[in-house]
Amino acid sequence: MADLKVEVCGIRFKNPVMPAAGPPTWNGDAMVACAEGGAGGIVAKTISTTGAVVPEPCMAQVGRGSMLNTELWSELPPEQFIEEEYPKAKDTGLPLIISLGYTADEIAELAPKVKPFADALELSTHYIGEDPSPMVEAIKAAKDAVDVPVIVKLSPLGREMKAAAQAAQEAGADGIAAINSFGPCLGIDVETGLPLMGSKEGYGWLSGRAIKALALRCVFDIARTVDLPIFGVGGVSRGTDAIEMFMVGASAVQLCTAAILRGPSVFGKITQQMNEWLDEHGYASVNDVKGLTIRKLKERAFRTTHLPPKLYVDLCTGCGLCETSCVYGAITVDGDKAHLDGTLCQGCGLCVTRCPTPALEMP
Ligand SMILES: Cc1cc2nc3c(=O)[nH]c(=O)nc-3n(C[C@H](O)[C@H](O)[C@H](O)COP(=O)(O)O)c2cc1C
Repeated sequence: MADLKVEVCGIRFKNPVMPAAGPPTWNGDAMVACAEGGAGGIVAKTISTTGAVVPEPCMAQVGRGSMLNTELWSELPPEQFIEEEYPKAKDTGLPLIISLGYTADEIAELAPKVKPFADALELSTHYIGEDPSPMVEAIKAAKDAVDVPVIVKLSPLGREMKAAAQAAQEAGADGIAAINSFGPCLGIDVETGLPLMGSKEGYGWLSGRAIKALALRCVFDIARTVDLPIFGVGGVSRGTDAIEMFMVGASAVQLCTAAILRGPSVFGKITQQMNEWLDEHGYASVNDVKGLTIRKLKERAFRTTHLPPKLYVDLCTGCGLCETSCVYGAITVDGDKAHLDGTLCQGCGLCVTRCPTPALEMP
C-alpha cells in the first residue's frame, strides 16, 4: 500500500482527499458523513456574517458528472455553525478547514469567532471581482485575527491565475485552493425553454468533470508561480484525477460535485483508487508524483513533425473507436484488428486517447 499521508500548511492529513466547501459539508452531520466516507480532512461550507438568501432552483446536473449551481454561501447563520455544526465536525478528529467569505470586514468579524475550531481558514474570493485588492485586504484581516494557516480559494474568472496567486502570496497567504466553479454559464430546460437555474438572469456556475482540464491548467500555472502548497479542486471524481492534480503540483485535492452526485463514500473510493494506481506504477508515496508534469515538461522536445502512433495489434479488441474518429482515414478495422496506414496518419494522437486498451501509444 502506497503512503497517502500528506502534510499541507503544517497540517497532517491521513489521506489527501477531502470535501470542498459546498453542500457535502453544509452542516455538522454532513461533515461527519464525509469523515465516515473516508475523507482525509474537511472543508466546511462557506459562511459569512449573515445567512445567504439563495435563488431556487440552485443545482442541476448538466452532462455526466457535471453540474450548474447558483448556490451562494451558507443559508445558516454563523452562530449556528459556531454553536452546533463545527463542534460536530471537530469530533471526527479530522483537520477542519473553515471557509469564510468575503470582505476584509466580514473576515475580521468572523475569524476570531471560528478560531477555536479551525485548523486553517479558507477564504473564498468568489464574489469579490477581479481586482486583487479586496482579496489582499481579506488575507491581511485573516492573518491579523488568527494564527492558523490562511488558504485563499481562487475563482477561474478572467483574472490571470498567476497574478492572483502572486498577490495572495505577497499578502501573506499560507496556501491556495484552486479552483471554484466556472461561470457564469447557462443551462436550459428544453421542455419549458426556461433556464435551469432560478437566478435572476438564469446564470449558473459550472463544476465537476467539465472543468477538470481548466482546474488542472490553473493548478499547473499557480504551482509554477508561487511557493505555496495548493489544494487542487475541480472535476476530481476518480483516483487518476487526483493523481493528475498532484502531477501538476497540488499537495491535496478537494471535491464537491462528485461528492454531491455519488455520496460521501466517494472519498474512500478515490483514496483506494489512488492507492492502487500508485502501487501498480511503483510509487511508494503520493508525494513522489507531486510536480511530475512540471519536471517532465522541461525535458520534452517540441515537435511539429507527424509521427504515427505505435499499434500493438495483439492488444487491439477491434472496437472500432479509432477508425470512427480518424478523420484522415489512416485506421481501418479489418476483422477484429485495427490496421494503421502511416502514410495517411497526421500524428494527431486522438486515437491513442480513445483506445480503451493500451493498443495505441504515442511514439
Ligand atoms: C452546489 C455548489 C455549492 C458550492 N458552494 C461553495 C461554497 O460555499 N464555497 C466555496 O468556496 N465553493 C463552493 N462551491 C465550489 C466548490 O467548492 C468547488 O470549488 C467547485 O465546485 C469545483 O470542484 P468540483 O468540480 O469538485 O465540484 C460550490 C460548488 C457547488 C457545485
